Amino acid sequence: MKITTQSTAAVDEAIRSRRSVRAFLPTPVPRQTIEDILAVSSRAPSGVNTQPWKVHVLTGRTKEELSRKILVAHDANAAAGSTGADVGEYDYYPTEWVSPYIERRRKIGWDLYGLLGIGKGDKARMHAQHGRNYTFFDAPVGLIFTIDRILRQGSWLDYGMFLENIMVAARGRGLDTCPQAAFIGFHEVIRQQLALNAGEMVVCGMSLGWADPDAPENRLVTEREPVSAFARFHE
Ligand SMILES: Cc1cc2nc3c(=O)[nH]c(=O)nc-3n(C[C@H](O)[C@H](O)[C@H](O)COP(=O)(O)O)c2cc1C
Repeated sequence: MKITTQSTAAVDEAIRSRRSVRAFLPTPVPRQTIEDILAVSSRAPSGVNTQPWKVHVLTGRTKEELSRKILVAHDANAAAGSTGADVGEYDYYPTEWVSPYIERRRKIGWDLYGLLGIGKGDKARMHAQHGRNYTFFDAPVGLIFTIDRILRQGSWLDYGMFLENIMVAARGRGLDTCPQAAFIGFHEVIRQQLALNAGEMVVCGMSLGWADPDAPENRLVTEREPVSAFARFHE
């Protein structure tokens, strides 16, 4: 491919315009579009071409049924005083939050709740908003990603590249996404519902569809540190 200023701008725009969208329109995504996104995304590199990804594509009744079952478990967790975040098969987040991560985590949380008018201490609304993860924020497509548990850390690195490809390829088609670690804690419900084999481990979920332009939560724009804060040039 010949690189032109237009192609540079198009790639940058697809990357820059990716944001985590948390409210979707019900408009269905054609199956061919989903297959095209997955096919191009599978061009992601992986150590010795391992291709560690496995994707469960959920639409219609299957998606609704999984959402319903997880929401029952989510409510039961809340009633038992647990968030469910402690029952994943792997740790996505650190067990101890320190600076600067804790500040960043708090900021995104309060910015999101601020847009939704959820006040500090409003546990019922926080629980309900967290529960929106499990209906894939009403997106028409829910993706559940699994990995073979014999694969090691390097394959998880490869997996991240595949996930980012999906999100960027979606943008190239005008679609939006939200990657979701929220599903990790419900791997048992997912395993049963999707008949995962014993070797499959849930990596995360992802919502895919068209963003609802009127939803306040979709006005959330997150910050990034400047290059000078995270890159050191050794000359
Ligand atoms: C692997 C992964 C898991 C995530 N899990 C969730 C989630 O469960 N629910 C959610 O609302 N956002 C989730 N996010 C979105 C992050 O909060 C978001 O990427 C971050 O705040 C930066 O915002 P941006 O994606 O809009 O740029 C996740 C992101 C990643 C990469």
